[in-house]
Amino acid sequence: MRLGPKPLARTVDVTVASVARMYDFFLRGKDSYPADRAACEALVDVMPNAVALAEAQRTFALAAVKHLALHHAVRQFLDFGCGLPTRVNTHHVAQQVDWSSRVVYIDKDPMVVAHGRALLDEHGRTAVVQGDLLEGDALFAHRQITQLINLKQPVALVATAVLHCIPDEDQPGAAMRSVLARLPAGSFLVLSQWVSADSWTRERVTDIMRRTTAGAWGKVRNRDEVDRFFEGLAMEEPGLGDVSAWAHAQHSHNRPRVVFEYGGVGRIHGAGPGLETQAEAAAAAPGPTDSASGRRPESGGSPRGCARS
Ligand SMILES: C[S@@+](CC[C@H](N)C(=O)[O-])C[C@H]1O[C@@H](n2cnc3c(N)ncnc32)[C@H](O)[C@@H]1O
Repeated sequence: MRLGPKPLARTVDVTVASVARMYDFFLRGKDSYPADRAACEALVDVMPNAVALAEAQRTFALAAVKHLALHHAVRQFLDFGCGLPTRVNTHHVAQQVDWSSRVVYIDKDPMVVAHGRALLDEHGRTAVVQGDLLEGDALFAHRQITQLINLKQPVALVATAVLHCIPDEDQPGAAMRSVLARLPAGSFLVLSQWVSADSWTRERVTDIMRRTTAGAWGKVRNRDEVDRFFEGLAMEEPGLGDVSAWAHAQHSHNRPRVVFEYGGVGRIHGAGPGLETQAEAAAAAPGPTDSASGRRPESGGSPRGCARS
């Protein structure tokens, strides 16, 4: 049970592993410290494919952003738990499709926010905000979000490799539903997290991550638990599954892997999950897009859970 808002950290402790810096290490970045690298080593002992997972997940996140920008004319992106900047980031892809796209990066880690502001906050269409995914009210009141994101137009909420940082007691599903309820029909959720079918592996990896990050982690989940984050959404092809499918399977569906990054892209179809009446749905529905190249999102998508890898 979560007891009120937790204050956001203002200082960085490099003696304790951080999930953002561990991820940076796996992606061959330069921002990790000995505690992060020791945690990565401990993790690789039980999860030898950790580097491949991080790479497949980045490929998925960027491919999903490109897909939504190109095929659904989405021009607004909220990148939750964005992590440390890497070689190619959400706004690079979104703004390559349409330079006017707006991207807000959100993370609770002060080091991510400092690096993000230095490297990602390039112009008035991109911003980096310190915030907690679990505190939707505070987040959506944030000046940079209200200035850049028009909640009457479709928004893509990107939450890749972040929900496994949140334990069940903090109710990540309720937090996602509360955030999605603020978005109009035609918006999308891009979500993935570590999954394993093997309970011993789930517990072992969860234990290592919680121990090395001093509790700043959630859990490896099973597929059914992650499927529930997509409840009420219409899935884009290829549906829910191992996200390496978005990398055209070069990371393989052939090799069995004990832990994998599982997720997909879901669309708020019709009224958003939090909108209850026809009138509310109509009020929240996006008008014609104001982008020169934009078009209204097409209907489509298959029911949640259609394809599994
Ligand atoms: C593994 S990184 C994922 C980075 C990025 N999303 C990606 O897909 O490459 C997870 C990030 O989520 C952030 N995070 C964890 N819990 C969060 C929360 N409740 N609110 C906002 N950010 C959070 C961490 O600080 C970290 O930077």
